[in-house]
Amino acid sequence: MAETTEPGTTDQGTTDQGTTDPETTGQKNMAIPLTAFAVGAVVALLVGVFGRVHDPTLQGTTDLGYSTVLAMKTVVATVVAVLVVVQVGTALWIYGKLGIRAPSWLGTAHRITGATALVLSLFIAYHCLWSLGLEVGTLPDGAPVSTRTLVHGLIGCAVIGAMVVKVVAVRSRRAPGWFLPVAGGVLFSLLVLAILTSAVWYIGQEGWPTRAG
Ligand code: HEM
Repeated sequence: MAETTEPGTTDQGTTDQGTTDPETTGQKNMAIPLTAFAVGAVVALLVGVFGRVHDPTLQGTTDLGYSTVLAMKTVVATVVAVLVVVQVGTALWIYGKLGIRAPSWLGTAHRITGATALVLSLFIAYHCLWSLGLEVGTLPDGAPVSTRTLVHGLIGCAVIGAMVVKVVAVRSRRAPGWFLPVAGGVLFSLLVLAILTSAVWYIGQEGWPTRAG
């Protein structure tokens, strides 16, 4: 006897009635987060490779009137820290986890603060990558690169990859429901770690950054 497909299901995973087989649909949807995480990992790797091969230079950077570029990044990273806390708070509110009804404008507010945090983080990451790069081993003056600096650089690269995943999660409507909160949670955690290993350390060592002159 010739082999047949499962009763009521065609070879393409659709039922006789033309509706889609849930199992096949589930696999299709899972492809979105899996591809996004794979692309994010490749982007993080490429950022790291760029950080290794690029010759660090202060040309094309700004200190926005602060004493150094590091001081400026510390101030902007503190703003990012406040914005990401707002992001998590508003996300929990939107998902109904705070037990208070979310107002209609909350989604827009969440998107605006999120986009601002993203742009500011990219601005800082550009300054890190361009003027310092991914430091490993010893610096050009022979001083050893601290574990904190190395960990910060690696996390910084992962942040860029996580941003790619988050943008895909926000844009894709066919992905599973867990994808957006997981992508947001991963990005939040990495950003917090990047800020703890840089701005928080800097403020602990040098105090709050001062303006130049
Ligand atoms: C794109 C990948 C990144 C690389 C390769 C990188 C690398 C570096 C390096 C090598 C330093 C100097 C550390 C030292 O002097 O010991 C630095 C400083 C800094 N980075 Fe990054 N970073 C990246 C992304 C980020 C991100 C995403 C943030 C925050 C949102 C950030 C915030 C800072 C701040 C505030 C400083 C100044 C304080 C300090 O000296 O540690 N960086 N970064």
